[in-house]
Amino acid sequence: MASSLVARSLAHIWHPCTQMQRAAQVPPLPMVRGQGVWLFDEDGNRYFDAISSWWVNLFGHADARINAAIKDQLDTLPHVMLAGCTHAPAVELAERLSALTQGVLGHCFFASDGASAVEIALKMAFHHWRNRGLADKREFVCLRQGYHGETLGALAVTDVQIFRDAYDPLLLRSHQVMSPDARQALSGESAADVALRAAAELQSLLEARHGQIAALILEPLVQGAAGMAMYDPVYLRAVRALCDQYQVLLIADEIAVGCGRSGTFFAVEQAGIWPDLLCLSKGISGGYLPLSLVLSRDSVYEAFLDDDVARGFLHSHSYTGNALACRAALAVLDRFAEDDVLNHNRQQATILSAGLVPLQADPRVENFRHIGMIWAFDVKEPLAGARFAERFHLAGRARELLIRPIGRTVYLLPPYLLDAELSPWLAQQVMATLDDVLNQTPTDADRAPEPPTA
Ligand SMILES: Cc1ncc(COP(=O)(O)O)c(C=O)c1O
Repeated sequence: MASSLVARSLAHIWHPCTQMQRAAQVPPLPMVRGQGVWLFDEDGNRYFDAISSWWVNLFGHADARINAAIKDQLDTLPHVMLAGCTHAPAVELAERLSALTQGVLGHCFFASDGASAVEIALKMAFHHWRNRGLADKREFVCLRQGYHGETLGALAVTDVQIFRDAYDPLLLRSHQVMSPDARQALSGESAADVALRAAAELQSLLEARHGQIAALILEPLVQGAAGMAMYDPVYLRAVRALCDQYQVLLIADEIAVGCGRSGTFFAVEQAGIWPDLLCLSKGISGGYLPLSLVLSRDSVYEAFLDDDVARGFLHSHSYTGNALACRAALAVLDRFAEDDVLNHNRQQATILSAGLVPLQADPRVENFRHIGMIWAFDVKEPLAGARFAERFHLAGRARELLIRPIGRTVYLLPPYLLDAELSPWLAQQVMATLDDVLNQTPTDADRAPEPPTA
């Protein structure tokens, strides 16, 4: 019998990314409490948040230091509009993020969700060229398998069919070029070879249409929602050079891979490049409050300075630069500084990777991959069967895991709180869940087609 919270939820909440007709078969977990890596449901069962609640809870749940910072801000200044006013948390956050880019990205524009940051970056890129007298540059390039969010502008540069197809008639046309996904390596090809092949395709497009193209948007190093497709950093270096050559802005969407997830604070650091615009969200506010932002080069910012108001960037959202959210983000940055987080993660990643070694030789699995604090593997198609993601998720619940495969890709994006006990435990539980699922006898319901939702 469903708990009253579940029943009330199903009666009144339209859950995100969910076919509600099926929601009763996979009822939402009635969570009542979170502490560190654990979430607790109303029956007292605990779940290890193996995907950091859609990749946001970098330091798990109810972190004492982030809690304290927010409580302090709550009593001081929870919110004030950022047009015509400013406040210390936003100023300090903009300064500190700019410093993390060595001053290359000197200005910060605030918003709330990841998709709004993407909308802002696209509009900024176009408007920047318009202000520079190049109004024909109004097309965008994105990568196949790329994901940038669900609003119409973001969907227009997204290539994940299940999210995009229904809305296709509404969307701006964009150019999609080959993804550098290393899984596409032909025999004898390295990941770097695939990346250079993808860059060559981009070059042909830019050669032909650079006069119309405003910007290229990509997820650096890992295409998350496509199923954690990973690629060689050489692609980013090639793209940076091509964008410079053809006067096209480079937008790095670090909404998922930023904030240490790839192993460096920004993923682009691993390629030794900086984009012109960088989108950040999700983990920056630690999974506490919606916050997104776009960092821009000063050269982009300066293109908007004029006596004419209309040449300014007149975009806004009511909660832009919300003080509580900025304060949470500052507490997240403090955590990085105080706890040598990147180094701690490197050590724990070694332990978790060691625990997952059997998967690399497992004949049921292919494309085991890892970068920073992201692990992924694909279950071979004939073995996965239908509704694999749903069945894996449900089996995970029984093994104290909150985990949501994408299609037949199982991935881990744990909070940055792993330790010598949790890392091997997590590896064991994931492998045991895989055994549970692959040893199940499929029912008729399992044979129905399943979309690869995140
Ligand atoms: C790379 C990337 N960009 C944009 C988004 C959209 O962010 P939001 O869901 O906060 O709108 C996501 C969300 O998963 C993402 O992974």
